[in-house]
Amino acid sequence: MRKPVSRVLVINDERLVLRELIKGLSAAARTLDNPFGIVFSGVTTTREALAAIEEDGDIQAVVVDDKLYSASNGNGGGTAGKAGSRKLQMSALELVQRITRLRPQIDVYILIAQEHEDEVVDALFTEAVDGYFYREERDYRGMYRILNAQIQEKARTPFYDQLKNYVLMAKDAWHSPGHSGGDSLRDSPWVSDVHEFFGEHIFDADLSVSVPTLDSLMQPTGVIEEAQKIAAKAFGAKRTFFATNGTSTANKVILQTLNAPGEKLLMDRNCHKSVHHGVVLSGAWPIYLDSSVNKKYGIYGPIPKKTIFKAIEDHPDAEALILTSCTYDGLRYDLPPIIAAAHAKGIKVVIDEAWYGFARFHPAFRPTALEAGADYVTQSTHKVMSAFSQASMIHVNDPTFSPHIFRENFNMHTSTSPQYSMIASLDVARKQMVMEGFKLLKRTLALSQELRQQVNAGTVFRALELEDILPEELKNDGVQLDPTKVTLDISGSGMTVEQLIETLFERFNIQIEKSTTNTLSLLLTIGTTRSKVSRLYDALVRVGREAKTTRRLPKLPDLPRMSPLRCLPRDAFYSTGELLPLLDESDRLNKRVLDRLSCDQIVPYPPGIPVLVPGQTVNEEIAEYLVGLLRSTRRVELHGIAYDGYVPCLRVLSGVEEKRLRKR
Ligand SMILES: Cc1ncc(COP(=O)(O)O)c(C=O)c1O
Repeated sequence: MRKPVSRVLVINDERLVLRELIKGLSAAARTLDNPFGIVFSGVTTTREALAAIEEDGDIQAVVVDDKLYSASNGNGGGTAGKAGSRKLQMSALELVQRITRLRPQIDVYILIAQEHEDEVVDALFTEAVDGYFYREERDYRGMYRILNAQIQEKARTPFYDQLKNYVLMAKDAWHSPGHSGGDSLRDSPWVSDVHEFFGEHIFDADLSVSVPTLDSLMQPTGVIEEAQKIAAKAFGAKRTFFATNGTSTANKVILQTLNAPGEKLLMDRNCHKSVHHGVVLSGAWPIYLDSSVNKKYGIYGPIPKKTIFKAIEDHPDAEALILTSCTYDGLRYDLPPIIAAAHAKGIKVVIDEAWYGFARFHPAFRPTALEAGADYVTQSTHKVMSAFSQASMIHVNDPTFSPHIFRENFNMHTSTSPQYSMIASLDVARKQMVMEGFKLLKRTLALSQELRQQVNAGTVFRALELEDILPEELKNDGVQLDPTKVTLDISGSGMTVEQLIETLFERFNIQIEKSTTNTLSLLLTIGTTRSKVSRLYDALVRVGREAKTTRRLPKLPDLPRMSPLRCLPRDAFYSTGELLPLLDESDRLNKRVLDRLSCDQIVPYPPGIPVLVPGQTVNEEIAEYLVGLLRSTRRVELHGIAYDGYVPCLRVLSGVEEKRLRKR
């Protein structure tokens, strides 16, 4: 394994002092234990310091003098003259705030003079300062030890280490899982190839709750608890919980925690289906807010701000508001005013950051939802960072958080046999983002820009920018685009999206993330490399050379508007219902479905937005829309349609059930 470099930036305006500091600290690094490759470099001005912090992803800590002067002739830095001829560059307080705004992961130490001690410490008390050193002491070895210890602390992976150590201890397993560390497979003439393919550690690290030193995900008091605490600090949360069944489960846990049956929930109708499932499970009364849509490209965007503000005004009794930010296509809300408006009415805010968990680690993506004031945030760590699939995190900053209720709901959804490698991958993903997230995201951003420019300059495709994607009604909503999600307009290629996906896969070995009828979406992550970008560009150029005439973009049919919800989704879903065919004998809309209440959620995919939720009235507009999709030659999945043999049906409440629910 390559040894890392951990740079400590020393900021001092007096060159001689700076030189002595660096010399003393470097000598300590040479002679003392230095597992993370600590090196020291120095600058004399705050401007240089901030530039270095923006530029150099290896900086892990700064040591800054409590007062930084520059010569009053404006040359900046250099040897300080008499106090009278010097100008304060920036207070330590301001510098610390600016560093934290750029990179909250950096450790900040202040060098103070003993005579100013109280003043400085008081001023910096609430800031993210990690410690103080007395300038006069010149205890470089002591300083180095502290800096080294702090970097080691951030780089710790308590759960992963424990798991690895346990595996290396090679204990005899008299417990589940049944493969017993892979022993059931290793010598089998039938399945030993599986052992070879996955590798021994997939199996011997697959342990169970029977190993107490690995802690319990359902009642963590040891290494899982520790790993979660370090993650909370890294992501800026009061509490963090590791979830091993994805954000799908994380969303359900939170909705069940916040909403008792009948309580209102303000939600994007276009929320992920796990949120809709959470509504059924919790018994919440959903108030659906319609997302905006860019019809040209078939991209659904955030909900207009004014719709959200109006919903908050109209439903001040709502328990919670849940939004997705950023969306699958990279559109992110201007969250602070939305969260402030919800909080003003006592409404909790939950943000689904399934696609945006990395945001804390580069200023281009911030503020994160937590930084904007959200109470609960769910993140699919696995989608955009280095965790195994299904590994997610729930972050909590709710000031009235109820740990007991949350725990009960969390445990209700958690397997009693969680995958320990998944937990380890969360621990490791957090470490990576803290130690090198900034550097990796900087590279990802550069690659995204490069790819966008190359595609636009050299191919028939077009990488869409915010102005292209943003639906008209959001123009003044402060929505931003996460540039690592690249949407390509494919109309210039003359191909259908299906043909293009197949060509990229079969001929160029490229698998893309998702598509609409007119676009392809590519996801750049911290794992994207320059050679992958080159291969993609090359493929797009070649496909473009074979392009036929430009194709007219097929227009997305309008989604039907929401019809009234006449009972709790939960009540409708748990009713037996009856199956009614959507089409009659002459293959026309079966009028018997009209004005009935759906028991299921009906979701055409794409675009993946429910046109019916349990409890909602089936009106003509919705029914005709579904019939149109059933007849369409386009490939559309219709989730929630029940089949009676080959006959597509809707499960609707029976008359008796409706009457019973109405009475309730
Ligand atoms: C917005 C959103 N939320 C939640 C999820 C579910 O996440 P997971 O796959 O981690 O269960 C997804 C998955 O695609 C999603 O797009």
